[in-house]
Amino acid sequence: MSRFLLSEDAIPSAWFNVLPVMPEPLEPPLHPATREPVGPDDLAPLFPMALIAQEMSAEPWIDVPGEVLDILRLWRPTPLVRAERLERALGTPARIYFKDESVSPAGSHKTNTSVPQAFYNKAEGVPRLTTETGAGQWGTALAFACTQFDLECKVYMVRASYEQKPYRRVLMETWGASVVPSPVDDPASPGSLGLAISDAVRDAATRDDSHYSLGSVLNHVLLHQTVIGLEAKEQLALAGEERPDVVIGSCGGGSNLGGIALPFVGDAAVRLVAVEPSSCPTLTEGTFEYDFGDTAGMTPLMQMYTLGHDFVPPSIHAGGLRYHGDSPIISTLVRCGRMEAVAYPQGKTFEAAVQFAGTEGKVPAPETGHAIRAVVDEALAAKEAGEERVILFNYSGHGFLDLSAYDDYLNGRLIDA
Ligand SMILES: Cc1ncc(COP(=O)(O)O)c(C=O)c1O
Repeated sequence: MSRFLLSEDAIPSAWFNVLPVMPEPLEPPLHPATREPVGPDDLAPLFPMALIAQEMSAEPWIDVPGEVLDILRLWRPTPLVRAERLERALGTPARIYFKDESVSPAGSHKTNTSVPQAFYNKAEGVPRLTTETGAGQWGTALAFACTQFDLECKVYMVRASYEQKPYRRVLMETWGASVVPSPVDDPASPGSLGLAISDAVRDAATRDDSHYSLGSVLNHVLLHQTVIGLEAKEQLALAGEERPDVVIGSCGGGSNLGGIALPFVGDAAVRLVAVEPSSCPTLTEGTFEYDFGDTAGMTPLMQMYTLGHDFVPPSIHAGGLRYHGDSPIISTLVRCGRMEAVAYPQGKTFEAAVQFAGTEGKVPAPETGHAIRAVVDEALAAKEAGEERVILFNYSGHGFLDLSAYDDYLNGRLIDA
């Protein structure tokens, strides 16, 4: 058997909160003006109280509301698939499993958090959400969630993507969102995620009817993504595996990696690996310090690995991995040695993505290609060592709206940053 499926009633009914079991506690976020720890009231203009509570919660498990489960049921539980054809092509004794998050309506894991975020805002009577998006994965996920709860959705899209990748914009508009290029005040700038966050936060902070929604980095976002790892644990058991030897995920802000990896943090026998682009090497070359989440310095400062909030990464195709900072949870796990981090140039990731497409048939998002590169190298290392390693990775999204990137790779136009 190569596909391990769970029934609808096996969607986790509670999220796994890693905060109480972190090997080292997280330092609190600081107010951008006073540099004092932020309290719930400081965050209230941007987020609903339920999410602020989750951000700081010490509860080991947090219930998933029934209305959220009803929507997650449209595509969850997602399949766990054994990549036997890839294993055979590599000639490895490793067993490779991937959790297929590409089956969601927006085509990536991002809907696991957009749905609860829209739900809690709706429950607090907030009619409008703002957000930023890079290549468009997060914007489409939030647009989908907002349409489910009848919320208005305004997306600030990094200008370079807005101009080069119209189909994600069309998808957002199909789900009723309004999309504008960012930065709004400088049409000559190609933009960056940090600038787009500033635009979206400024919009929400200056309107009474609006909140802001973030698709990665924050504790509550990683919390919502833990459905991935919780389901994967059940499915590995169905496959007859006691545990994975290694869990791998690409890392932009840390949400898909956190989703699959955090439920395994307590098991010291399981290695956890973050994969990032060498052109935006936050975990492998950044410094661990307090920094702003956005370019304009409007968000609280978080203790994390960062390349500096004014760092503008080169425009590689994996737009979702072009962020100067990283989740404080992921950063702290790397800092204290519980998680490893590796970086690859994009050419190597497309090579692995094309091998995956040719063996398993699925065309991954460029972000996902980063994880696949590390999986291939891990499987080859297992072959070299003659070891039957069990490798689990998160297939975070499909690449059907990223085919221009494949076109560049296949026709020798990719800049190998
Ligand atoms: C398919 C896919 N994978 C991975 C990522 C990286 O983000 P994160 O680290 O938050 O999972 C993104 C971000 O947009 C994405 O769209």
